[in-house]
Amino acid sequence: MKSPFLFALGFAVAVVTPQIVSAETVWLDDLNLASASQGWGEPQKNKSVSGHELTIGGQKFARGFGTHSESSLRVNLGGGAQKFSASVGVDDEVDKNPAASVEFVVRGDGKDLWRSGVMKAGAAAKMCDVDLTGAKTLVLEVTDAGDGNTYDHADWADAKFATAGGKITASEERPAPVAPYILTPSAPATPRINGATVFGVRPSSPFMFTIAATGERPMEFSAKNLPRGLKLDAKTGHITGALKTKGEFNVTLHAKNALGTAEKKFRIVCGDQIALTPPMGWNSWNCFAGAVSADKVKRAADALVKSGLINHGWTYINIDDYWQNHRDSKDKTLRGEFRDATGKIIPNSRFPDMKGLADYIHNLGLKAGLYSSPGPWTCGGCAASWQHEEQDAQTYADWGFDYLKYDWCSYGDVALNEMTNVMNAQLWGKTAPNDASAILPYKHMGKFMVEQKRDIVYSLCQYGMADVWKWGGSVGGNCWRTTGDIVDTWRSMSGIGFKQDKAAPFSQPGNWNDPDMLIVGQVGWGNTHPTRLTPDEQYTHISLWCLLASPLLIGCDMEKFDDFTLNLLSNDEVLVVDQDELGKGATCIINHGDVRVYEKNLADGGRAVGFFNLGVKAAEMQFNEFAPLGLTGKQHVRDLWRQKNLANVDAAKGSLSLTIPAHGVLLYKFTATK
Ligand code: GAL
Repeated sequence: MKSPFLFALGFAVAVVTPQIVSAETVWLDDLNLASASQGWGEPQKNKSVSGHELTIGGQKFARGFGTHSESSLRVNLGGGAQKFSASVGVDDEVDKNPAASVEFVVRGDGKDLWRSGVMKAGAAAKMCDVDLTGAKTLVLEVTDAGDGNTYDHADWADAKFATAGGKITASEERPAPVAPYILTPSAPATPRINGATVFGVRPSSPFMFTIAATGERPMEFSAKNLPRGLKLDAKTGHITGALKTKGEFNVTLHAKNALGTAEKKFRIVCGDQIALTPPMGWNSWNCFAGAVSADKVKRAADALVKSGLINHGWTYINIDDYWQNHRDSKDKTLRGEFRDATGKIIPNSRFPDMKGLADYIHNLGLKAGLYSSPGPWTCGGCAASWQHEEQDAQTYADWGFDYLKYDWCSYGDVALNEMTNVMNAQLWGKTAPNDASAILPYKHMGKFMVEQKRDIVYSLCQYGMADVWKWGGSVGGNCWRTTGDIVDTWRSMSGIGFKQDKAAPFSQPGNWNDPDMLIVGQVGWGNTHPTRLTPDEQYTHISLWCLLASPLLIGCDMEKFDDFTLNLLSNDEVLVVDQDELGKGATCIINHGDVRVYEKNLADGGRAVGFFNLGVKAAEMQFNEFAPLGLTGKQHVRDLWRQKNLANVDAAKGSLSLTIPAHGVLLYKFTATK
């Protein structure tokens, strides 16, 4: 609105003074907030991220933008913007949780114009008042202040622009749209044995391994030097049985169909360690969230087989939260006793037969996973394992489950009661806490996991607190989340994926850093939509997760696969980078502006290299920095997505001409040659 006073003044003195242009107010909440990307929840207009009245340090605000770190909103200033002002802080809805800490950042044309400094829950709002004269674009960011994004509910309250003209709009800077394009060639009709080259099992545990092989069916499987105690079903390729004593066995797997034969060396290691390569499979959370049921899980297992993904090594079908009864849900299917008279957990009515469900999954040649928390409640508010850890571990094993994701929620808030504050301060501080806090619940359950008569992959889900990668293996963990929850935006995926270097040295067979589940395909936490990642962003996602040796857990509705997604998940040369026996996690070796080059040593002496482009325009370069990647002499270069030999290059004087798509990747394998 133009001020009437200024208008009158301008009119009265128009003859003798230059025109005074009055400032108009444009409210931030009137812009397209949906274009913001954020680490949790949806951007909110005039409300906190959880839908409450905006409140910072007891002060209420009628207008503003409620968000969650890591958050970014890009604003085009339209040429005439003069000022941006807001009151910022952590929303009171997080109830002074000490884990909540954020920093608000205002960036103009790529430069920091204002930073709030680290802000904690309960603190009074800080006033941000920034001169925008001459600025073209503004980015409003909320960072996690370096401690993970848990409870980071952040408000830009009372936020507005003063402008003298030009339209102020909000939009994300995105690469130009590209239609999905398939790079993975179809698997040949002749047999090809895919998947991991090594498999770990504990003595006497039931052995379950399905030979992953593509090619026309029917197919006949056989194996040379299969140790005593194991048997192979020639029709299905399922290897079952048990090994009594520790040892290593070098086996040769064979597959035969009407068109040809294939063989592959395969090592079975009977010892203390399992998950010798990162687990691959599916988890219910990113598509079904609180709407999961046994029926949906069975259909997911069927889809994994029907889609052919089982032939590329995808194995686990994991039920996440909401198989238990809920503490206060209005949904009748979630209401009921939490435990029976003996203390045994009772699944909710959507899961009438847990053993039957696990059997169903096993009969398909797959494995079954489950979820719980060390506190009394899961993150979704269902019954969890507090004070029933041993009994729950036994129940999961009796039912036949092979994987447990063990979350954190409610352990900090409820179980430790008055210790919570001390503990959280330790957890989120820079120093690693001792057993009394972060490690204890995981160590406790870890003991019961290995005591079971079957192998259960133990997956810690506490978002990386207390540098979990440093101690996760010592409590029996096979994988551990290194971050908060992923969502299907570029900001979330790239923000997580390109920040894993510090955990990488701890990646090894049996111990995997987990940057969270895959967000390709139809995802949406109970209400699915096609992933918001562009095709190139999806190639980046899968390439990066494979280079990092991450667990690969598909998070989409597998009954709704499209050709692009299926191809993305069935490139055996890419997947083998993830499943490599050495178990190394790639790190960023070269960082030039938007281009990041990641390198991973492979068991066969080769190196997988990902050339990533974080920019919104294609990056072209003549690449010759082979030495930092450890590449010397003559190198054979293969494009893994296209499964095509590219070139032979002399690392000393040659170069490679690269065009990396916007937000995209080139994933190459280098092998020394003569
Ligand atoms: C979160 C976890 C998610 C999902 C959810 C279930 O803490 O990070 O992956 O398991 O809990 O409520």
